[in-house]
Amino acid sequence: MKPYLSIEKLTQRFPDGAGGDLTVFEDATFGVEKGEFVVILGHSGCGKSTIMNILAGLAEPTSGAVIMDGQEVKGPSLERGVVFQNYSLLPWLSTLKNVTFGVAARHPNWNRQKIEDHAVKFLAMVGLEGDVIHRKPSQLSGGMRQRVSIARAFANHPKLMLLDEPFGALDALTRGTIQDELLNIWGQMEQTVFMITHDIDEAILLADRILLMTNGPQARVAESVEITIPRPRNRTEIVEHPNYYAIRNHLVQFLGKRSKELAGQPTPAGQTNSPVSVRIDKTETPDDPEDKRPALRAVNS
Ligand SMILES: Nc1ncnc2c1ncn2[C@@H]1O[C@H](COP(=O)(O)OP(=O)(O)O)[C@@H](O)[C@H]1O
Ligand SMILES: [Mg+2]
Repeated sequence: MKPYLSIEKLTQRFPDGAGGDLTVFEDATFGVEKGEFVVILGHSGCGKSTIMNILAGLAEPTSGAVIMDGQEVKGPSLERGVVFQNYSLLPWLSTLKNVTFGVAARHPNWNRQKIEDHAVKFLAMVGLEGDVIHRKPSQLSGGMRQRVSIARAFANHPKLMLLDEPFGALDALTRGTIQDELLNIWGQMEQTVFMITHDIDEAILLADRILLMTNGPQARVAESVEITIPRPRNRTEIVEHPNYYAIRNHLVQFLGKRSKELAGQPTPAGQTNSPVSVRIDKTETPDDPEDKRPALRAVNS
């Protein structure tokens, strides 16, 4: 059976400006299950935003397809919510109206009060309550604006939520708080999320699964790493889980070394371009009790 979101042999080429082609990625193939939180991690320029724009329906791939819930993605839709790094709020509307605007579009048969109550509820979930919701975006801090973007996206409960480095412009403290709020709001609803980041710790905290991309051009989604740390998670306790540093080291190794070594290499013979599944779990009983190495299993998916 196909996964809920199926990315099939996706290829993107751009003109390289010298009469030739630049292949950003080729035949990328992977899936995302309903309700799953998948994070894609890779160096700048490997093609993460390009994938995101195709998933959002904002760009067309050179070849390949994106199938969501049995339907091919063609063009933007209310079924897909997008949060970018630079909060795209409507500057002439209040915070509240920025949220009700989308809710009203999605639920044309709801009355005004129901729309407003729904928006207020989602704003409260990201800590925005009281007078502040009547302010214009220009009167909010960067962190608050990004909270509005998140509330707006979740309030629409799209089939797929796309987040492209949503916290990239925020200071570390604000970023941490909003990560917690994002986990909280996600935990309260069944929401499929596909998020881009280049922050390893953010990826481990949030993800069910991390997709690792090699460097471009001709980037590949090389691995799918399962985050074997139970939820609910929080930033201070997660680092004490026995799997945390084993997973973190694996990701650091990949980004620091293997993403370069694997760059531009064709898919190994006999393999499709789907990522190799990696599961690291130190809590599993090792065959040899003296063996303290992380239990690392790589299986072809
Ligand atoms: N519209 C475009 N035309 C030409 N090249 C592009 C276009 N969009 C992206 N690229 C190139 O594709 C590559 C991947 O870009 P991008 O998806 O933004 O990377 P990331 O989000 O991983 O940093 C880069 O080399 C970038 O210059
Ligand atoms: Mg990008």
